[in-house]
Order: sequence, then C-alpha cells, then structure tokens
Amino acid sequence: MEIKVVNDVKSVSADILVVNLFEEGKTSSDRANKYAIEEDGFKGKFGETYLLQTYGEEPYRKILILGFGKKEEFSQNKLREAVAKAVKKCMQMEAKSISFAFDGIDFDYAEQFAMGAYIADYKFDKYKSEKKDKHVQEVYINASEQGLKRAEKFAAAMSFARNLANEPAQFATPSELASIAKDLNIETVVYDKDECEKMGMGAFLAVGRGSAEEPKFIHMKYTCDNPKKRIAIIGKGICFDSGGLDIKPASSMITMKDDMSGAACILGVMSIIREFNPQVEVHGLIAACENMPGSRAYKPGDILTAKNGKTIEVDNTDAEGRLTLADALCYACELGVDEVIDIATLTGACMVALGSQAAGIMGNDSELVHNLIDSAEKNGEKFWELPLWDEYFESLKSDIADMKNSGSRWGGASAAGVFLQKFVKDVKWAHIDIAGTAYLEKPQKEFISGASGAGVRTLLGYILEQ
Ligand code: BES
Ligand code: MN
Ligand code: ZN
Repeated sequence: MEIKVVNDVKSVSADILVVNLFEEGKTSSDRANKYAIEEDGFKGKFGETYLLQTYGEEPYRKILILGFGKKEEFSQNKLREAVAKAVKKCMQMEAKSISFAFDGIDFDYAEQFAMGAYIADYKFDKYKSEKKDKHVQEVYINASEQGLKRAEKFAAAMSFARNLANEPAQFATPSELASIAKDLNIETVVYDKDECEKMGMGAFLAVGRGSAEEPKFIHMKYTCDNPKKRIAIIGKGICFDSGGLDIKPASSMITMKDDMSGAACILGVMSIIREFNPQVEVHGLIAACENMPGSRAYKPGDILTAKNGKTIEVDNTDAEGRLTLADALCYACELGVDEVIDIATLTGACMVALGSQAAGIMGNDSELVHNLIDSAEKNGEKFWELPLWDEYFESLKSDIADMKNSGSRWGGASAAGVFLQKFVKDVKWAHIDIAGTAYLEKPQKEFISGASGAGVRTLLGYILEQ
C-alpha cells in the first residue's frame, strides 16, 4: 500500500472517496450531505459507516461516510481506529485506490491516519493457497508528508514483528531468529550453547535443554558518533512454550508460538532503527530457546546458577521466561549501559489483571517507567504500572537456594518482576509484560486476531525521543 499526498483529494479518480462525519455536523461532500444525512438521517456515530453510489457523476465510484462520533470525544486513537475500519471496508469491496477527504479535525492527523491504514492492510496469509482480501494499492490524502513517513517506518517495524510472532514455531526457531538478526543491516553477534555455558548462563541454558533446537543468545548493536545515551532492550525469546515437564494443558499451549513476541518486538525495532539514525546506542538482546519436556529437560527441584552467581530452585518449569531473562539481564548490566528495558510475554497473571488492552510495566526508576508510559500513550499503545514491592519476594523464598522461580499464584505479574530485579545491578531498569497484548484471540480495534506487534511503537518512539 502506498500513501500519496495530494492537495485536492476530491479530484482524484479513486475507486472510493472516504469522507468523515462528526455527529451533528456535515461532510465535505454535497452528495453525502444531501442523500445520507438530510434524506436518510445518517448520524455519524463513532465507527458507523454509510455507502453511497455516485452513478458516474463524480470522479470516484462510491462514497463511504465514516462516523467520527462526538467532536469533543474525538482523539488520535479514535482517528486511527476509524481509518482502519474504512480501509477494511474498502478492502472487502476490492477497492484498489481510496481517496480520503477529511474535514474539521483540529489536530495533525497524518501519522495516526497512516498507522490506521497500514495496520488495517496487514494480513498473515502466506500459508493460504487462496489469498482472499486484496490489498489496497493507493491511498490519497492531504496530510503532512513527515507524519506519513514516520508512520510508514513504524508500521514496517510492526509488520516485521507481527510476521515473526505469527510464524509457526516449527519455522521460527532460535536458529532462525539468529539468522534473521544477522541479516539485519546491523552489527550482530550470536552465541551458541557452548559460548553461553562459558559465560555462565545456567538459567537460560536449563530452559533450552529439553528441546532438540539449539539455544542461541543474540546481541545486536546500533551505534552512532557520540551517543547521548546507551540503552539495552531485551526481548523474551521462547520460540515455543510447552510448559516443559510442568506441561501446559492444550487450551493454554495453543497460542504459545507467540512466546517470542518480546524478541519479535526487539527484532522489529532493530530492523528499522538505522533509518532514523537516533543519537543513542541501542543493544538488542534475545536469549532464544524452546521450553520443551524432552528427556534432558530441566526438572522441578533442580537448582540453577545464573550468570551473576545467584542460585534458583526450579519450582515450576513453566515459569521459564524469567530464567532466560535473568541471564540476559545480567549480560545487559555488564555492558555498562544507562538503561535496560525488557519486554516479555511473561505471566498469565498480567493478562488476568489487564486483559488484552494494556501491557503491565514496572521498574526501579519511576522516571524511566513514566517516560515509557508516555511514549506508549503518544504512539497508540497502553501501558499500566504494576507495583514492584519487596513483599512480593516473600513467596519466592527457597529453603535451599537464593530463590525459587515461582511461588504464590496471586500477584504473579509483580512476583515475576521482583524475581527479575534480583538480576539487575546498578542500572535504571523497566520491565514490560505483554502477555495479554502480544497475541489477540479475536479482532480488536484496528487489529485482526493474532500477533499485534506489541511494544514496537512504544520502544521505537522512546528511542527516538532521546
Ligand atoms: N508464556 C507464559 C505466560 C503467558 C500466558 C503468556 C498466557 C501469554 C499468555 C509463561 O511462561 C508462563 O507460563 N507463566 C506461568 C508462570 C507460573 C508457572 C508461575 C503463568 O503465568 O501461568
Ligand atoms: Mn511458561
Ligand atoms: Zn513463557
């Protein structure tokens, strides 16, 4: 899909012209005003649409009126959602070109307009022998080139991440993630099992032991001259989470190819970062492996030693993400960066707390946490802070090791957070739990079901703000 800027959108001979309608208002099309509003009483409630034929009397075949709802309740988020709805409608009608004539919006909508259009245009149909909906080829709009360009890159990074997380685990293996990282136009080092062993990553390697796939530790690095700040971003990279010996029931296992959505987010960000040339150094880290119950699998009761020397008693092999992140956090801290941010499909508890609407965030530095929450809001995502109180460590106490990897069911997202904190040393750190937002069971707002690219917009936006 290509978005083109034109001044006079209504003179373009596109298949469909889309006009907006605020409640109690008018559209920019006389035909729409006369037939839909005056004669048929269309109100323009948010998300409602109305289709008109033009019978060869105008340059476009049809006019789609898009309800924007009450003007005082309108926002960038609503605009993005409405545009996505219009694009999806036009796709169903097999339109090849759409022209948008928006009127009466009192903010710069270029970026969120394009985000909505690109997100709606996304499909994961590579394994369908018959591709159903046709992509829209051309979109015309009168909006700022700058906003459109930024959205194009953000959307490309999101699609990159969504494709990876939607890809079945049989293909998106740790080795495959490593080779994808190496193919990015960026400095990348991949450590294999023996090298990870030498680095003392006993927690990460234990998780991968039950699988026939070799674990890979991936380190990507973007630099520039005189970076203003040095940041490490870590993505949970469990390419499949069967639960291990504490195996998951089928109904919980079915979506677990998505347990590398954090890694997919990091790869998405790193895939586009050069095109923005931000004045920061960014390290993208992924401890990639599968959590499987093979005969060499780690067992409940085992004691693991992480990279920082701390010992962990395995209480539940399904609490594997935090074990892989523990070693990745130690590695990140040794890089001497200013900030460490991890993003992970970490706990069902976070999903219970926030649903698929918001990611949970916690950390040891409230400025960093709040800057990330702000970036989420600016870029169309929702983050919600969860507590990281010491009390949550109570249930992780072990009689025979420094800690257990799981404890009480209650407050599970925060318990996972305090566990991770034990591997963070002398650095500002934030942890983002995307268990609920990374993979949608059903369509939600501008998204179809499946991988959503959670975290990509927020992390990219945050990096670009430095
Ligand atoms: N990958 C899961 C968390 C998850 C659940 C992500 C649902 C997306 C949707 C994680 O590894 C896990 O299994 N967590 C356990 C931890 C428990 C054993 C302490 C959980 O949340 O049940
Ligand atoms: Mn698990
Ligand atoms: Zn997991």
